[in-house]
Amino acid sequence: MSALIRIQDLTKQFPMGGRRFTALDGISLEFERGEFSGLVGPSGSGKTTLLNIIGALDNPTRGSAIVLDRDTKTLRHREAARLRNHNLGFIFQTFNLLSVYTVFENVEFPLLLLKMEKSGRRKAVMDALEWVGLTDKVDMRPARLSGGECQRVAVARAMVKNPKIVLADEPTANLDAENSHNILKMMIGLNREFRTTFIFATHDEKVIGYLKRIISLNDGQVVRDEEP
Ligand SMILES: Nc1ncnc2c1ncn2[C@@H]1O[C@H](COP(=O)(O)OP(=O)(O)OP(=O)(O)O)[C@@H](O)[C@H]1O
Ligand SMILES: [Mg+2]
Repeated sequence: MSALIRIQDLTKQFPMGGRRFTALDGISLEFERGEFSGLVGPSGSGKTTLLNIIGALDNPTRGSAIVLDRDTKTLRHREAARLRNHNLGFIFQTFNLLSVYTVFENVEFPLLLLKMEKSGRRKAVMDALEWVGLTDKVDMRPARLSGGECQRVAVARAMVKNPKIVLADEPTANLDAENSHNILKMMIGLNREFRTTFIFATHDEKVIGYLKRIISLNDGQVVRDEEP
């Protein structure tokens, strides 16, 4: 059986003042179902860029990312959206919450895309908000929340549909130690129960302590890939 995610000789360049900046430089990696893995490395080493490509939010310049047997660069806009809606949960480094919606509505959003019916949605949203300890803030809008609370809403939104793959970009950057450990334990539980595949991008030693595979990036290259 082929891997859940296959990154093949992937290069990503961005235009930079008439020249090109190489953010990812010939990376090859595979992820199997049920991995609890993380990308680590200095700021600017390419972690977010790689998560965006795995999540079909961006295309490689060369090489390919094959996610659930789909080569992401061959997908039309709608097919990429479908792949994301059905299979991927994203936790963005900058949260990307919808400011006009409440906490409840932000977490409900992925379920609306899946056309889940109302009572099922309500239960799933409240369960997800309970995982992250935010059931008392359901009707608030993101502008009134602390940074850590916004981060927890983003975690709940990514997890609410029980996706096959979770791409988590610095999901604990704004959390205190207790909330970080609670969220990581919740994720480990989902990983065990549903074999949810996790790929983190992180600098956080607390997160790194939970990882079963650590992939180190430097200047857009994989410099280490180890199981601690
Ligand atoms: N859209 C873009 N246009 C130009 N350069 C970009 C773009 N996106 C990323 N880069 C550059 O690519 C490099 C890698 O960025 P990336 O965001 O992947 O780093 P990172 O490892 O996630 O860093 P951090 O730990 O700070 O989040 C950086 O030097 C960044 O400036
Ligand atoms: Mg980043």
